[in-house]
Amino acid sequence: MGKLHFGAAWYPEHWPQERWAEDICLMKEANFSVARLAEFAWSTMEPAEGEFRFDWLEQAIEMLAEAGIVTVLGTPTAAPPAWLVQKYPDTLAVDEYGRRVQFGNRCHYCVNSSEFHRATRRIVCAMAERFGKHPKVIGWQLDNEYNRVCYCSHCLAQFQVFLREQYGTLDELNARWSTAYWSQTYSDWAQIPIPIGGHNPGLMLAFRHFVTRSYRDFQKVQLDELRPHLPPSVWVTHNFMDWFGAFDHYEISRDLDLASWDWYIGTGHHDHLKTGAAHDLVRGYKRKNFWLMETQPGNVNWSKTNNVLNKLEARAMAWHAVAHGADALLYWQWRSALGGQEQYHGTLVDQSGSPRPFYEEAQLIGAEFARLSDLVAGSTIQSKAAILNCYDSRWSIEFQRHNSDFDYVAYLEHWYRPLAARNVDIDIISADELLDGYKLVIAPAMIVLDEGRVERFKAFLKRGGRLVLTLRTGMKDRHNALLPFRQPGALAELAGVEVEDYYSLENPIPVGGKLFQGSASLWAERLRLLGQRFTTVMARYGASNGWLDDQPAIVVNPVEGGFVYTVGTWLDSQSQQTLVNQILVNSLLKPFESPAPVEVRTRVRENGTALHFVINHSREHQVIALPWPAIDHIGGQKFAQGNLTLYPYAVALLTKQN
Ligand code: GAL
Repeated sequence: MGKLHFGAAWYPEHWPQERWAEDICLMKEANFSVARLAEFAWSTMEPAEGEFRFDWLEQAIEMLAEAGIVTVLGTPTAAPPAWLVQKYPDTLAVDEYGRRVQFGNRCHYCVNSSEFHRATRRIVCAMAERFGKHPKVIGWQLDNEYNRVCYCSHCLAQFQVFLREQYGTLDELNARWSTAYWSQTYSDWAQIPIPIGGHNPGLMLAFRHFVTRSYRDFQKVQLDELRPHLPPSVWVTHNFMDWFGAFDHYEISRDLDLASWDWYIGTGHHDHLKTGAAHDLVRGYKRKNFWLMETQPGNVNWSKTNNVLNKLEARAMAWHAVAHGADALLYWQWRSALGGQEQYHGTLVDQSGSPRPFYEEAQLIGAEFARLSDLVAGSTIQSKAAILNCYDSRWSIEFQRHNSDFDYVAYLEHWYRPLAARNVDIDIISADELLDGYKLVIAPAMIVLDEGRVERFKAFLKRGGRLVLTLRTGMKDRHNALLPFRQPGALAELAGVEVEDYYSLENPIPVGGKLFQGSASLWAERLRLLGQRFTTVMARYGASNGWLDDQPAIVVNPVEGGFVYTVGTWLDSQSQQTLVNQILVNSLLKPFESPAPVEVRTRVRENGTALHFVINHSREHQVIALPWPAIDHIGGQKFAQGNLTLYPYAVALLTKQN
């Protein structure tokens, strides 16, 4: 049986041991079940090459265990120590201007450096030997937020080897990348550069694949040392940064047991439709529940205005994370260190060692998690709607936006928001996943198309699926070359349309039909119907550049079993909501009704019981109509069918009562 965990990152190495007992007592009083340790403690664990000091860490783990708190250990490779970079200066990364990165911040390593791999093996192996079988260490986090891209000569050579593996021959590479263009033809692998700024689209895409491979290999170095020492119940994760785009997160997650991520708001307040997408994205890395490895206790220190979250906002955020599949929530960090770069960051305990006002809210969340752990742990989200995410498509667009305001992630969110606003549970998954079990699949800006994707769409439609294709679909191959067809390439038959031309828009233009009258921005495709019998135009462009006037913008096409929508433009939010509402009706999805600031999400227990999380994300009272009598497991109250009033930031966990 799993557990709903609650805790924080604790760095005992920052404090004298005499203080630890008091900290742990405060953690216990805050209802902690877990603490994350050691992820930046390399210089404390290995103060000189090959000299290890782990007694302090063992003692901290034991003391936590006595208080009933288990440990997640981090490998410290995001903070290579001074002695290491002094002795092996090539372990330091090089930036795109050819400058060595300075020591003293984080992730200053070259991910491909063999010296760095050697040092990584040594520290990870030593940690694994010492703590791998420790009964109170339940999981491991490798490194911290992989992020740096290195441009050193060693990475360049490795990149050229990678290309040779991928393409086999230079003839193949030259053909795929159309290198005759601007005389880029390569006659030696050693001529191929790491792209800096704009470059050949094939080369740019291949470099992202190389960065992905580099981190995957670096991660394997750690896994190879760690795994042989771990019992099967102990998991390994990495704490990702949701939409961070330097590498393919699906690839890197493949070798992990669990996905986790670090959630920060920075300036402002929680936008649940935005972070809902981030949680659902991370849940999709492994297609299972995840850990929220870090989140902000009140405020951060690195944003424009490091404002605090409103009182009780963090509690709503905590349950929102659980409602989207988090099985743990850990704050970063426990106590403000007296020195170091993050003195102003929010914590649970301040520099004096006293609990901050926020601690009280954490205590409440911890108590609720502990009380509801048995009910919630093991339950999962069973979405009937999926949004497909494709790194190749995203990168292809980011390299050549064609309209500088066209952002792939923003466009994906433009589809997510209206669906989530209607309380539809959504999976965000790799565009290469199977589509079994879904009723509705949306493929935003899926510019890269191959046979596998086409086949999966066909199978999905045959089962009665509703497929939404959008602008910029089916234009490129896996090498980022244009396909020699009009969009949407091999999907044209299913869509019942082809794209005659596409236009980057200077200003919004009118678009509408029976369903709505609205505006189209940034991008507009002129659709041509292929003459199939039942293809229906849902919206046309109004007067604009002449080429688009009165041309089809949105089309729906019935196919054997299902329907294909083609949406050729970026609609205003209201029209987008209306369109999504219509698609939901046609998909036979009937989600909960609630006023805009109230979110309802569902997790399902193994025995089939549905747990409905109802969260008021606003500072005002809200009312929802309960379709059946229910019990709220958080407040311990029973409610009759009918109106349920939610106080500001209220959270309820409802099960239906018969
Ligand atoms: C994260 C990082 C933490 C801490 C935090 C501050 O990105 O993983 O170690 O620095 O930011 O907000």
